Amino acid sequence: MNKLYHIMTFGCQMNEHDSEIMAGMLEEMGYSETQKRAEADIILINTCSIRENADKRFFGSLGQLKRLHREKPEMIVGVCGCMMQQQHIIDAIRKKYSWVDLVFGTHNIHELPELVTGILNERQKVVSVWSEHRGIFEGLPSKRRYPFKAFVNITYGCNNFCTYCIVPYTRGRERSRLPEDILKEVRELAADGVKEVMLLGQNVNSYGLADGFEMDFADLIYAINKIEGIERIRFMTSHPKDLSDKLIGAYRDCEKLACHIHLPVQAGSNRVLKRMNRKYTRESYLELIRKLREATDGQIAITTDIIVGFPGETEEDFEETLSLMAEVQYDSAFTFLYSPRPGTPAAEYDDQIPEEVKHERFNRMREVLDAGMADNNAVYEGRIEKVLVEGPSRKNKKTLTGRTESMKIVNFAGTPEMVGRIVKVKITEAKTYSLEGEVTEWDTHR
Ligand code: SAH
Ligand code: SF4
Ligand code: F3S
Repeated sequence: MNKLYHIMTFGCQMNEHDSEIMAGMLEEMGYSETQKRAEADIILINTCSIRENADKRFFGSLGQLKRLHREKPEMIVGVCGCMMQQQHIIDAIRKKYSWVDLVFGTHNIHELPELVTGILNERQKVVSVWSEHRGIFEGLPSKRRYPFKAFVNITYGCNNFCTYCIVPYTRGRERSRLPEDILKEVRELAADGVKEVMLLGQNVNSYGLADGFEMDFADLIYAINKIEGIERIRFMTSHPKDLSDKLIGAYRDCEKLACHIHLPVQAGSNRVLKRMNRKYTRESYLELIRKLREATDGQIAITTDIIVGFPGETEEDFEETLSLMAEVQYDSAFTFLYSPRPGTPAAEYDDQIPEEVKHERFNRMREVLDAGMADNNAVYEGRIEKVLVEGPSRKNKKTLTGRTESMKIVNFAGTPEMVGRIVKVKITEAKTYSLEGEVTEWDTHR
């Protein structure tokens, strides 16, 4: 059998990793990957309910696939991911896109092989969406995008119910994987040549708490730090309300813990933070930043998520976000225009901000962010950085690209043998979004 699959992924790292798992399962069934949709025997769209127009782009992609599916009716088109956990979306698919063969949700991706086999045998459409999780499914295969770095789920779901956010509804209640399962997976990854692990969860800091584990998130970092072969540990995302002093201590003690933290602030005004149900204040957030910098001699890179135009955000509130940004000097940020998500409390608030005000604030925020990023990057000039080489750069195939411990993108001249290795690069030029450099040293044996 020489059957082909193609997966389109929207959304965050959780979705990217879910797509890797689906790819792994399809490969075990004998399928191989293709980049060309027209030649695929199965196309899956893994959807997101948050990211910029992800829903519009999803329905746009479905529109394009309709013709392809008509011309090649034996092709299976499946849709999955966060949007499928929303009833109004499933209703829309049933009504307007009834030609879609397969619909499944975030809680039952492990069913994919069974569902596909069912469709092949019976040639009928299948909808299988579990409204809640029914246990954590261990041992699923995964096809990694890079051989040398890997995502590792540590928690699923979220209990925080920030008032703007749909994730607790699409991913369900928070649950943690057992420490032994995580450590086993990381050891296997190390044996398979993985150097960098990215631990994933909506709020990694509350790892184990809801399940009453003895081991907390910081303990998990200490344990992974001891695993031979792993050279870098990253995690995402970390909620400020649960960031412990013990975890801050791990930055001191664990040499493999990358000197970077993604710590979403969302807003700089206490009034807005309260209405968002974030459960921390501007002051307590800034105190965390101070402690993190103290523990790392000021070396830690800090990135964040910010929302502008949350309902009721006044000009003064917004200026507090700008002043917080100026104070922290972020290394980078995902910036979002608030958009109401049906089913969340904030979507019902009656003081929504006009679109043009949101856009105007968004542009001002980007200016402050870019200025901070350029200043932060400038201090790298002349420094020697350890870079995990990812491959040829997208713009210029002759240069390599990789990331520093602090997550900065570095472009430099190199040879293909360097891909997947950690090399030392002297930074020769800093730009706003990336660094340029030249290799000073690399170990051919590692
Ligand atoms: N669990 C992570 C975030 C997951 S969602 C955390 O709590 O940090 C990723 C980001 O999307 C959020 O941090 C937020 O900035 C943004 N976001 C979520 N819902 C949004 C909405 N309705 N409008 C605009 N941005 C939103
Ligand atoms: Fe959404 Fe808040 Fe949970 Fe993050 S912590 S996933 S923003 S509800
Ligand atoms: Fe989107 Fe779901 Fe992630 S809504 S951001 S793909 S958890």
